[in-house]
Amino acid sequence: MNTRLLVLNPVFSVLNSAFISALSAFSAVNLFALLRVLRLFALNAFAFLPRTCNLPIRSTMNPLALTCPTVRRIGILTSGGDCPGLNAVIRAVARDAFHCAIKVIGIEDGYLGLIENRMRELTEADMAGLLLRGGTILGSNNKTNPSRHKIGTDSDNRPIYKDVMPDCIRNLERAGVEALITIGGDGTQTGATEFARMGMPVIGVPKTIDNDIEGTEITFGFQTAVATATDALDRVRTTADSHHRAMVVEVMGRNAGWIALHAGVASGSDAILLPELPFEMKRVFDLVKERSERGKRSSLICVSEGAKVKGHGQFVARRVETSPDPIRLGGIAKYIAEQIEDETGVESRYTILGHTQRGGTPIPSDRVLATLLGSHAMTLLREGKAGRMVAIQKGQLTDVDLSHAAGKQRLVKEDDALILAARNLGTIFGDE
Ligand code: F6P
Repeated sequence: MNTRLLVLNPVFSVLNSAFISALSAFSAVNLFALLRVLRLFALNAFAFLPRTCNLPIRSTMNPLALTCPTVRRIGILTSGGDCPGLNAVIRAVARDAFHCAIKVIGIEDGYLGLIENRMRELTEADMAGLLLRGGTILGSNNKTNPSRHKIGTDSDNRPIYKDVMPDCIRNLERAGVEALITIGGDGTQTGATEFARMGMPVIGVPKTIDNDIEGTEITFGFQTAVATATDALDRVRTTADSHHRAMVVEVMGRNAGWIALHAGVASGSDAILLPELPFEMKRVFDLVKERSERGKRSSLICVSEGAKVKGHGQFVARRVETSPDPIRLGGIAKYIAEQIEDETGVESRYTILGHTQRGGTPIPSDRVLATLLGSHAMTLLREGKAGRMVAIQKGQLTDVDLSHAAGKQRLVKEDDALILAARNLGTIFGDE
């Protein structure tokens, strides 16, 4: 026998067996991969089936479920003034959590429910119809600050305040809550930073119709409020035209003029009055007179509740002492309308839109934004992040430190592109 072959024979047999085991390993891997593909296909193909089909739809529909955090139970609350889209965020957070088999504890009426230990576990059934439902199924409260909670009054009827943060933490621990999602505005996120400081992992979700939260360029609820205000302005214009009137429409927004600016531009208002640009009444009188003389049938003025006449303060409607921000603005529209009628002789009326801007069904873009932000809050938890607030910056979904939002307000800048555009079109802001 050829000695070379004799020498090579064992080499061949080693190679041969290596080849065979590689092949079988490869086939096993392939088979495994194939099985996974088939399983995924089957699960997704039948994903429309009701839950009773017993397929593990949850983990396959959400690939991130594979990286679920160790957190098994989260708390969620909505705090501050409500706004359209709150329920859509609750739904996004809860459904995302359910996919990871995380339990969601709904805290009622914002921080007040936390202080009073009012919580309940949310179920899949609770999520039905939430995308389009206004308000918040959890309830909200804009008068509670756990660091300074009113617990009674003294003999002179002065309020007695107490820091009840430790009680809140105790209630959360008793409920087994390991992380907290706080949906709210600057006051809520200020409270959230306190919880984060005390060691509770918190993720904030910014909300407000005012669109004034620092760290994010848009909040859900804002676009719905603008749509509602624009619709009202459009309607007021038609009746103003019929009667040759000047009409003043007051919109919400606190110290920020975002709603007035956007609804004012969208409705083609002749004057837009913002808190950020103190205005002269004379400028408004001149506008109304000049339009009347030119034969224009009406003048439409969109004023933010926080707008200021130059040299004067804001119009305060009431004070809510227990609220972290006690001032409630309102009343400027009445003042402007009366002044216009006195000075120009043009018949004038005013309308205060008030809470119509906060209630009702969110428009689709707010449902989408709420869903994005709610789901991103869960993604951050999955990544083990805490002390963050989900945000939109330069049109992109991101997150910022919670302290960005705490106690600050994002106001309209005087060189905002929309202000410049409106000025170029002849709209007045009264500061010219
Ligand atoms: O922050 C939302 C907001 O609707 C403001 O626009 C408005 O100034 C304020 O809340 C009204 O608060 P309340 O509901 O307490 O009257």
